[in-house]
Amino acid sequence: MDFRKDFVWGAATSAYQIEGAVKEDGKGEHIWDVYTKEPGKIFEGHTGEVACDHYHRYKEDVRIMKEIGLKGYRFSIDWSRVMPEGVGRVNEAGIAFYNDLIDELLKNDIEPYITMYHWELPYELYKRGGWMNPKIVEWFGEYAKLLAERFSDRVTHFFTLNEPQCFVGLGFVNGEHAPGIKAPIRDTFEMAHNVMKAHGRAVQMLRTHGKQPLVIGYAPTASVCYPATEKAEDIEAAKKSFFALPDEFSNWHWNVTWWSDPVLLGKYPEEGLAKYEPYLPKITEEDMRLISQPIDIYGQNIYNGYCVRMGEDGRSETVSRYEGFPKTAIDWPVTPECLYWGPKFLYERYQKPIYITENGLSCHDVISLDGKVHDPNRIDFLARYLHELKKAAGEIDLRGYFQWSLMDNFEWAKGYSERFGLVYVDYPTQKRILKDSAYWYQKIIKENGSTL
Ligand code: NOJ
Repeated sequence: MDFRKDFVWGAATSAYQIEGAVKEDGKGEHIWDVYTKEPGKIFEGHTGEVACDHYHRYKEDVRIMKEIGLKGYRFSIDWSRVMPEGVGRVNEAGIAFYNDLIDELLKNDIEPYITMYHWELPYELYKRGGWMNPKIVEWFGEYAKLLAERFSDRVTHFFTLNEPQCFVGLGFVNGEHAPGIKAPIRDTFEMAHNVMKAHGRAVQMLRTHGKQPLVIGYAPTASVCYPATEKAEDIEAAKKSFFALPDEFSNWHWNVTWWSDPVLLGKYPEEGLAKYEPYLPKITEEDMRLISQPIDIYGQNIYNGYCVRMGEDGRSETVSRYEGFPKTAIDWPVTPECLYWGPKFLYERYQKPIYITENGLSCHDVISLDGKVHDPNRIDFLARYLHELKKAAGEIDLRGYFQWSLMDNFEWAKGYSERFGLVYVDYPTQKRILKDSAYWYQKIIKENGSTL
């Protein structure tokens, strides 16, 4: 029940959530740059224009990572910073920024993990149809080639997409995220299929143009179903629910198998092909071959889950949560078991080394009179979750864990009202303060999780 010796204790961020400098050094616009300017979309009209000003403060931020003792750092490249129109012209200043960041990380013995797409779709591509346009498969491939050519001499780990469920679901199904569209169902399925193909094309291009053998992964999200007891039938019920399609049709995108089976098993789930049939685009064998290009690692973002048991009628049922069930500041349930059962179920199904590419919580953090930020709830949450993860580490091939997030940042539609960081950001002054949880995590890393 130990973490492997080279376990990657990390933290994660994404470009728009921390960088700021949205108009600097030739960066192009992406859909979030545009969407955040629309009235009423984001909490109190917040935007990522300045965010954590990481673009100018990355050296200080890497110093902080070093102080915490991080072994790995997962960050995303803003596509529009390196290719302002999404294809064609390369912005050398943008490339230089990421090169400097990568070099700084390596100088400090922190392994860079690049996420290619954490929702920054170049606006110029959006105007050409974005994920709706089948050409995006090649556009994304061209972008992957650029990243391989410019960064893979030093970076070996790449994740293609972050949470496709969210950028399609929240961006185009319920419209809460950029570009804020409620598209016809048919279009969303077509888009999703393009997304899958773009992933495959990116894997091909990374492999072909990588300067050394690369470790390539994918980072979807999931609400895990975990069993109410260790009885075999409850475990079976939980696993079944975890991999089932959502009951509600409109929730089709909140699903593990629709997004991961094609990538790892080379096929969409039969149940979904039948249920969604009237809305599906043409899916060819060639598409499936492209989508299922072999990848090396499986990344999974996991924040919470549902407790499930076998009902008396032989069907899985969700155990309802009672009043007062522990919740984080953003009102998400605290369910540590998901970090044991989630990776375990996923490993059984997909047989790939696993990374938890995100996990964490938002707390009501404040600077106390002593000038420090005391966040006992975050420590409690992480201790419980990591304790479960440690159990999984003893049973499956688990390679790393990236806490979300290194620092407080722009939480999409909720703006800066939620604080997910190990490090507190005082936005008016941009001062960084390590929260108590950062020191706690530092200790856990030092001990390789042995006290969890
Ligand atoms: C998922 C997303 O990848 C990240 O961008 C977001 O901030 C966190 N979860 C918290 O909601």
